Amino acid sequence: MDTLEGRVAFITGGASGIGLGMGKAFLAEGMKVALADWSDDHIAKAKAELAGNNAVFFVKTNVADRASLQAAVDQTLAHFGKIHVLCNNAGVNGGGTAAGPDFDDWDKAISINLGGVVNGTKIVAPIIRAQGEGGHIVNTSSMAGVVPLPGLAAYSTAKYAIRGFSESLRMQLAAHGIGVSCLFPGATRTALVPLPEDDPSIDAENAPQFLKDLWDAMRGAIDPEDTGRAVVAAIKANNFYIFTNREFIDEVRQRHREIEDAFPSDEATPGRVNFETMRAEQVRNLMAPGNRPLPAKESTDMELDLGSRSPAGGQ
Ligand SMILES: NC(=O)c1ccc[n+]([C@@H]2O[C@H](COP(=O)([O-])OP(=O)(O)OC[C@H]3O[C@@H](n4cnc5c(N)ncnc54)[C@H](O)[C@@H]3O)[C@@H](O)[C@H]2O)c1
Repeated sequence: MDTLEGRVAFITGGASGIGLGMGKAFLAEGMKVALADWSDDHIAKAKAELAGNNAVFFVKTNVADRASLQAAVDQTLAHFGKIHVLCNNAGVNGGGTAAGPDFDDWDKAISINLGGVVNGTKIVAPIIRAQGEGGHIVNTSSMAGVVPLPGLAAYSTAKYAIRGFSESLRMQLAAHGIGVSCLFPGATRTALVPLPEDDPSIDAENAPQFLKDLWDAMRGAIDPEDTGRAVVAAIKANNFYIFTNREFIDEVRQRHREIEDAFPSDEATPGRVNFETMRAEQVRNLMAPGNRPLPAKESTDMELDLGSRSPAGGQ
């Protein structure tokens, strides 16, 4: 999307942190913004901060509950008439070890962090498509969706899954004039990780060293309004990957080298090579950074089907 002015965004987890940062950056572009959140406290604070701005609409929802999310979308459509940009951003922190016997953290991480992204997309993407005016979907993953965090297997699992879901979605929606981006924040100054100075109930002295180091990282973390501006730039350029935290680059490179080094050296059969070359050609243009989706009016009702016309003809 080249122009955001006058377009409508629906942002989940929009009343705090990164969601609110995106909301403010969209407002600065002249957009209308629906901030959907389940926290009365966060909604009240954000309402006070944005008081008097009639381009903002607050709506309460739980992204893990499809009926609740559908109701929030319906209220937004009743208020603004359309939705062009969807930000599936609501998320919760939490543990969830890979090998421990606990299931509560797993269910929470999957139903909110991953389920919220899937629910939001399945409810709103058909609306954006039917409008025929193009649009963009931004899904919030995490650096924990690229390099997993120790002791946070449930969170990392959901965030990795968001990345896979988003890559597939990107290929499917490019033919309909709808771009997709995936946001991978590292430490960002939000309510997700409360600091002892902000929450007197935290026992800072007896906290494990890992948590103390995390608090230090959060004290120098990225401003969510900068993240919001990075999201605006990515939507305009139709870039899929949005990274905000440079400090991860060496670890990511090392991981990519490890993946490449793990491939066997024996050659594939010609049939395998032909099939994968054909498949890779079909999707290459869709995956290229900055690739423009087809203008909405040229799109077809076809889902991306590897045997059909390549949408790569878009500008
Ligand atoms: N802050 C970071 O360092 C960081 C790093 C990586 C990824 N993230 C991701 O960024 C996203 C936003 O988090 P944040 O850091 O801005 O935290 P935040 O707590 O400031 O904001 C998240 C918002 O989501 C809302 N929310 C949570 N569960 C919800 C639900 N089920 N339905 C509706 N609203 C819900 C919360 O009320 C809150 O207002 C999350 O997906 C998080 O995992 C954050």
